[in-house]
Amino acid sequence: MTIIRKVDQVHPDPAVIKQAAAIIQNGGTVVFPTETVYGLGADATTDSSVLNIYKAKGRPADNPLIVHFSSICMMREYVQVSEDIEAVAGRIWPGPVTIIFQSTERISGFARASLRTVGCRVPANPVALALIDSAGVPIAAPSANLSTKPSIVSSAEAIEELDGRVDMILDAGDTFFGIESTVLKSSRKGYEILRPGAIGVEDLEPILGKIIVSEAARAASSVDKPLTPGMKYRHYSPGKTLYRIENREAFIATVLRDRRKDMAVICSDEVAAILGIECISLGSEDNLYEIARNLFPAFRKLDASAYRNGIIHGFPESGIGLAIMNRIRKASLPLL
Ligand code: TXA
Ligand code: MG
Repeated sequence: MTIIRKVDQVHPDPAVIKQAAAIIQNGGTVVFPTETVYGLGADATTDSSVLNIYKAKGRPADNPLIVHFSSICMMREYVQVSEDIEAVAGRIWPGPVTIIFQSTERISGFARASLRTVGCRVPANPVALALIDSAGVPIAAPSANLSTKPSIVSSAEAIEELDGRVDMILDAGDTFFGIESTVLKSSRKGYEILRPGAIGVEDLEPILGKIIVSEAARAASSVDKPLTPGMKYRHYSPGKTLYRIENREAFIATVLRDRRKDMAVICSDEVAAILGIECISLGSEDNLYEIARNLFPAFRKLDASAYRNGIIHGFPESGIGLAIMNRIRKASLPLL
């Protein structure tokens, strides 16, 4: 049975947090909000707990999980935090940035998919921080969606997809960004983006120096050698076929000329106004944060609709736009 409890995202009720923390301490799974997407969490230090995550998600066990800490101080007890991050940690965390560190044996090998490294972050969400603190252990948590499905950005989606598969769901409404954290790895050449996310390269470079963005991280080319184990899997996808035309003008022309009635059109409000047909809206293209927040829910709407397939256009790859385009490219097939 899944316990579902409402919790305020800014001022969480300590009694609810205590109940969730006890479940984590006893090896169970808790779905909780972060500032990016919902996570499906368990005690990162215990093999059997971590295995419960893979079981609930149906996730292949060679795709490592992100481990969440309540502070940089706590992180130091479990991983080898590099000196350069120590110096800027207060400017990165709490926040939607995951950094790969050398792990110690204290983090379960299953959370690391047997790698010696582990992706870590301190989430900027009072519920998540209180849960980690109260449990007293780092919490391993992938995005809470079932494997290959779009990430979960609201408690309504979490309940629909995971009721009966996990021990507890914290029902805290919508997440802030609606897209996952930026994953970074340090190399001799500087920081490299493994997965673009909620914080853009432009905002990180003043803190971390020049950041390497490969074609694979943009998901602009087919990937022969995945940068991160997560890259080789189908991701974020609607169940129906989604096509994309990245160029906005080519998209508009093609939809007006060729679209069949059974194809859903997923687009910005501005493009919808030009097309003058019923669309699944992503919000205004003037605000890429709004587009990011509406993206995964739009994929879910496509699946729930009577449409046979869908088509989506591209957005500028600046700021959070790089993450938007990465998710769109991973979820769709190019039409032009
Ligand atoms: O915003 C987020 O990051 C959310 C919330 C819940 O924190 N979590 C999330 O986790 O998106 P997940 O498991 O869906 O994605 C984790 C990504 C995967 O692409 C995985 O391959 C990569 O991080 N990753 C984790 N550990 C890694 C490691 N040691 N080396 C390279 N990549 C790693
Ligand atoms: Mg995920």
